[in-house]
Amino acid sequence: MTPVLSVRDLTVTYSSGVVGCVDVSFDILPGEILGVVGESGSGKTSVLNAIALALPPTRGDARFDSPRLGSQALFALNAQESRWLRQREIALVHQNPHRALNFDLSAGANVAEALLAADWRHYGRIRQRVAELFRRVELDLTRMDDLPGRFSGGCSNASSWRGLSPIPPRCFSWTSPRAGSTSRSRPGCWT
Ligand SMILES: Nc1ncnc2c1ncn2[C@@H]1O[C@H](COP(=O)(O)OP(=O)(O)O)[C@@H](O)[C@H]1O
Ligand SMILES: [Mg+2]
Repeated sequence: MTPVLSVRDLTVTYSSGVVGCVDVSFDILPGEILGVVGESGSGKTSVLNAIALALPPTRGDARFDSPRLGSQALFALNAQESRWLRQREIALVHQNPHRALNFDLSAGANVAEALLAADWRHYGRIRQRVAELFRRVELDLTRMDDLPGRFSGGCSNASSWRGLSPIPPRCFSWTSPRAGSTSRSRPGCWT
């Protein structure tokens, strides 16, 4: 079986010289979920950001089996290609909702943005899909137009909106997974 994601010798060194992770290798097969566990500062988020194309690695390879583009060398993609994949097939849920959400846009608009990026244009269909996703994670539909900062429980709720992933991705990268997310049925990497 072809892995959805195959990572070899992934190493991230930050510009400060601090080492994020060294020589990380793993495969994720279709339907598999990889949980990465380790103490704070051990490199979990560095791995996750690199495979979700949010952070350039210093060394290593990653091969992603894209349903639409075929087998892709992730770290060799140009900016346009990696944006295309991030918008459609590789999802990242940030631990910090301030990195995931625009706090000047409503909760619903934050989710709708991902649909717009993937070329959805019909307002009614976007609104309907956003409502469907809110329902799925038991968020009150009447609060779709509220700003993220107005939700109780801090912003942790907010980060799950992005995780709603309007378009089911092929691979989901998730820090601190939450119940009710669509990621449970996706192959991916949880840290
Ligand atoms: N943006 C950054 N710039 C510099 N160093 C960083 C950055 N992000 C993480 N680090 C460092 O990289 C190491 C691994 O961090 P991280 O991947 O966030 O670990 P974890 O997610 O397991 O807590 C730590 O020493 C951390 O301080
Ligand atoms: Mg982390």
